[in-house]
Amino acid sequence: MHEPIRITKAATLKKKPKDNELGFGQIFTDHMFVADFQDEKGWYDPRVDPYGPLAMDPAAAVLHYSQAVFDGLKAFRGVDGKIRLFRPQKHVERMNTSARRLCIPPLDPELALDSIVTLVGLERDWVPKTIGTSLYVRPTIIASEPFLGVRPAKSYIYYVILSPVGAYYPEGMAPVKIRVEEHYVRAVEGGLGGAKTGANYAASLMPGEEAKHEGYTQVLYLDGVHRRYLDEVGTMNIMVKIGDEVVTPPIAGTILPGVTRDSVLTLLRDWGLRSSERAIGIDEVVAAHKSGTLKEVFGTGTAAVISPVGELAYKGEKMVIGGGQIGPLTQRLYDAIVGVQYGKEPDPHSWTVEV
Ligand SMILES: Cc1ncc(COP(=O)(O)O)c(C=O)c1O
Repeated sequence: MHEPIRITKAATLKKKPKDNELGFGQIFTDHMFVADFQDEKGWYDPRVDPYGPLAMDPAAAVLHYSQAVFDGLKAFRGVDGKIRLFRPQKHVERMNTSARRLCIPPLDPELALDSIVTLVGLERDWVPKTIGTSLYVRPTIIASEPFLGVRPAKSYIYYVILSPVGAYYPEGMAPVKIRVEEHYVRAVEGGLGGAKTGANYAASLMPGEEAKHEGYTQVLYLDGVHRRYLDEVGTMNIMVKIGDEVVTPPIAGTILPGVTRDSVLTLLRDWGLRSSERAIGIDEVVAAHKSGTLKEVFGTGTAAVISPVGELAYKGEKMVIGGGQIGPLTQRLYDAIVGVQYGKEPDPHSWTVEV
């Protein structure tokens, strides 16, 4: 059992946006969850406060050495009116794994789950109603100790903020154009790639901007050693269907262990379809495209659920996949996961937690 969560309500409430005006991550709800950590006390004073700025010493370790982790998950308003979080325990577990890699003290998983459920429960009126929209949950841990030496900090702040977000595909799922990145890498084995930490996203800004400038939505990263094996696509895990086999890179330290990736692999097993977690070279993808066996390519992630790739550009060559259309398996996976999230389908794996 953890300390009880203290709740301080906001004196005035914000005006809520209309579902059709929602974008991503620009609007925040009335409250946030906060807890503190000090070496001698552990995690303490879990509370809900009115949403607002954090007081931060300019010497705080996070501002200098980026000792911070976060996660990202969603709450959905189902067709039955119930509010469901999608696999929150899995996100809490990943946040703690990320924390350990950055020498951040992990949270009691029960407290972390309660922080999310309590806050979303309090802010339930902020969960938008239209299918495709959701309430994005962003738990974060930052090193707050004012100290300029390079070592793990002795004090931290955990906080959770909520943001109502619009449909990723307001006009239905749409295939994207992706550039295979030949110059920049996102992570290397032994580095931070497997942790959800700001540094990885900072590293991805320049390749992302350059790809956008050239008319692509995002980049597909190759491994940092051979520049050959597929890593991730933008902020999503990548899956490739060659013949009747779905292939995705293994969790080996460079890629984030995606919750959507895990959900897709589970569904493929449920459906008796072939899937492999193995290293896959871009040369194998090119060869499959040439021989006509490259059937579908898609990214998986909380933001889009499934994002079909209609075109891959590599070494100046453009590979159009499935005629640039959404593949049948891509669509089936999307419908299955969205169906569970919005309570339209049964949830045999107990992926959702009702708020
Ligand atoms: C780098 C990266 N890879 C993969 C993913 C997909 O993970 P998940 O399915 O848990 O959202 C994310 C987050 O969305 C990410 O930021």
